[in-house]
Amino acid sequence: MAEKQGFTSSFGAIAAAVGSAVGLGNIWRFPYICGQYGGGAFLLVYLIFVFLIGMLLMLSEFIIGRRSQHSPIFAYESLSPHKAWRYAGLLGLITCFLILGLYLVISGWTTNYVFDSITGHLAGLSPDQLDSHFASFSSSALRPIIFIAIFLALTALVIIGGVQKGIEKVSKILMPVLVVLLAILCVRSVTLPGASAGLEYLFRPDFSKLTGEGILAALGQALFSLSVGMGVMIVYGSYIPNNDNLLKTSLWITVCDTLIAILAGIAIFPAVFACGQDPAGGPGLVFKILPAVFNSMNPESGLPFGTIFASLFFILLTIAALTSSISLLEAQVAWGSEYHPKHRTRHTLILSAIVLAIAAFCSLSNGVLSHLKVAGSTIFDLIDHINSIYLPPLCALLTVLFTGWVMPKSDIRDELSNHGSLRISYFGIYYFIIRYIAPLALLVVLVTGIINSLH
Ligand code: PFF
Repeated sequence: MAEKQGFTSSFGAIAAAVGSAVGLGNIWRFPYICGQYGGGAFLLVYLIFVFLIGMLLMLSEFIIGRRSQHSPIFAYESLSPHKAWRYAGLLGLITCFLILGLYLVISGWTTNYVFDSITGHLAGLSPDQLDSHFASFSSSALRPIIFIAIFLALTALVIIGGVQKGIEKVSKILMPVLVVLLAILCVRSVTLPGASAGLEYLFRPDFSKLTGEGILAALGQALFSLSVGMGVMIVYGSYIPNNDNLLKTSLWITVCDTLIAILAGIAIFPAVFACGQDPAGGPGLVFKILPAVFNSMNPESGLPFGTIFASLFFILLTIAALTSSISLLEAQVAWGSEYHPKHRTRHTLILSAIVLAIAAFCSLSNGVLSHLKVAGSTIFDLIDHINSIYLPPLCALLTVLFTGWVMPKSDIRDELSNHGSLRISYFGIYYFIIRYIAPLALLVVLVTGIINSLH
């Protein structure tokens, strides 16, 4: 049997997991929902959820993964006397698969926008023209699927390269590149005249906009952004070196993920305000409003290099999406490798083909297949709905119940302390939150989500 591969160093493990966490969720989603639900007020609640629940959930997944040395289905099965727990792993895997289907659609858009901005296709278009450019592109049949396929091929190539020579190596290179690109864009954005209004929009707390819905969105966003709840971090946990301090690793990942989300807001909003665009652009902010912002940075307006900044931004977004989709696909491949460790390439190709079909379906439902409705929604919206309301909080709930109530407490202590060699004075707090607070919070999110969706 082939030797199970893991990450070679702490830095490699952190880079790969930060790669998974930092994605479209940070750069595309976080800024617009933060603006929508009251800026600094949302940020405050988000930070509480990220560090209190998200990070400890990540720690729990790392414990399950490293202790069992398995991917989710086998991990749950091997650590519990009740074999039915394997279905918790299966549910996570299904969730990853569906998320990947949608994620690829948006990643395909970002890859297309890299191409469009480098070749100058977006330059000079007015905001209205950019609007219709996006609408006609995203609803066309072939072009989005071609870009999804290009993006997926990149993802698959890295996975075929292996855990060390593919995922770890690529993450160690791409994550620093991402930080540098983001820093360049932040400096450009905050040095534009009138940028301070954007910073105010992002950070000034407006508690009147922070509704109950906003609080639920903050917890949902915290889980999505940290890639927790669906087993990806169980897989990465099984690759973490045995002598790594799991709390430190989780803390690093959480801090990096949160800082990058905030930096993305700093790169986007000041520029949006400085160029007189609408900050409440919602999901279309990145694809419709930002290109208009970059277009207004042309030499005549005294703000040079719009095309270059547009290209850098979409390259940044594509890199972020790539390392996340790698982790989503790796979760599936790791499961296949449990049966046939030598057939990594074959598993990757077969799973890629299946997920390409799902993504193509989702993409077509924005155009040619928009008439095809299930329960009144297009396929894209249906999968999005299932993926945001039901599956992630349910999977996350099962994970915390498993660590808090099923796994022996002594095993958890043993894993967190690296068999007694580390001091874990925080253990009592961790265990209390994972046993009581986190399940309660996740249950509230799940039940409220279900009730709201029935109305
Ligand atoms: N955390 C990623 C993002 O913020 O874009 C998305 C993601 C990746 C979610 C992997 C879940 C996952 F398992």
